[in-house]
Amino acid sequence: MSDKYCVIGNPIAHSKSPEIHPVFAAETGQDIVYERCLAPVDGFLDTVRQLVADGYRGANVTVPFKLEAAAIATRLSERGRLAGAVNTLVFENGEIVGDNTDGAGLVTDIVRNAGVSLAGKRILLLGAGGAARGVILPFLEQGPAAIVIANRTRATAEALAAQFAAHAAQAGQVSAIGFDEIAGRFDVVVNATSASLAGDLPPVPASSFGPDTLAVDLMYGKEPTPFMEFAALHGAQVRDGLGMLVEQAAEAFTIWRGVRPGTTAVLVALRDKL
Ligand code: ATR
Repeated sequence: MSDKYCVIGNPIAHSKSPEIHPVFAAETGQDIVYERCLAPVDGFLDTVRQLVADGYRGANVTVPFKLEAAAIATRLSERGRLAGAVNTLVFENGEIVGDNTDGAGLVTDIVRNAGVSLAGKRILLLGAGGAARGVILPFLEQGPAAIVIANRTRATAEALAAQFAAHAAQAGQVSAIGFDEIAGRFDVVVNATSASLAGDLPPVPASSFGPDTLAVDLMYGKEPTPFMEFAALHGAQVRDGLGMLVEQAAEAFTIWRGVRPGTTAVLVALRDKL
């Protein structure tokens, strides 16, 4: 019998994960099924318990359950703990193991797919919510010169920077500012605010971008986001979050199956369907 996995969310119909994992499985010769699982908003834990009872081997977790998934995990990876959110569960030996592959997915998309090393680079991270929190440790592991967290609410950025200070290689490697304090050009600018959802541009100055800047929006869609258009207008190379989506899935698949799938074909296919 095939090993069973699913993605849990509410709503769940929009999730692209069921279009990704079967392709990975076919390519790597893994015998799995991967389904959508709609959990009631107040029934996440019951849903997970039922999946375990039904013999599922693991699950992805999406909105609005990522924080709850971190809370119910019986064991958490370091990056899951620091992200405070879990997108990947492994059910093994009676345990619910929680991990977060979002940040690793972003790093792979930047380093491998975009071909931009993060070592020694100046990174501007826009936003200090859940999406931003998840990428900081994986970024630090790449040895950047600086991660500057800029947020509309400065205090939230400060709290985040303080939390990650212990993981920095040197004092000041992670710092926090308000949008009005953003100064100088950056090698990488990541939009981890939810502004793009509302069609808004976060107030990042044009001077942050140049021809050597990679600008990444964690959102994706058929059209470029206002952030991507603004960054491109000011000379930056731009990417949306579709690569991160596929790479976080590849990382989860690797955790579950112990084999890393290729991602290029899936990314092209998803892009065509946007
Ligand atoms: P997510 O899980 O997507 O990160 P979140 O935790 O609600 O969502 O965080 C949203 C982030 O986007 C926050 O950093 C928020 O800034 P505040 O902390 O000041 O609320 C930021 N944000 C949302 N809308 C924004 C906008 N129009 N311009 C700039 N920042 C915005």
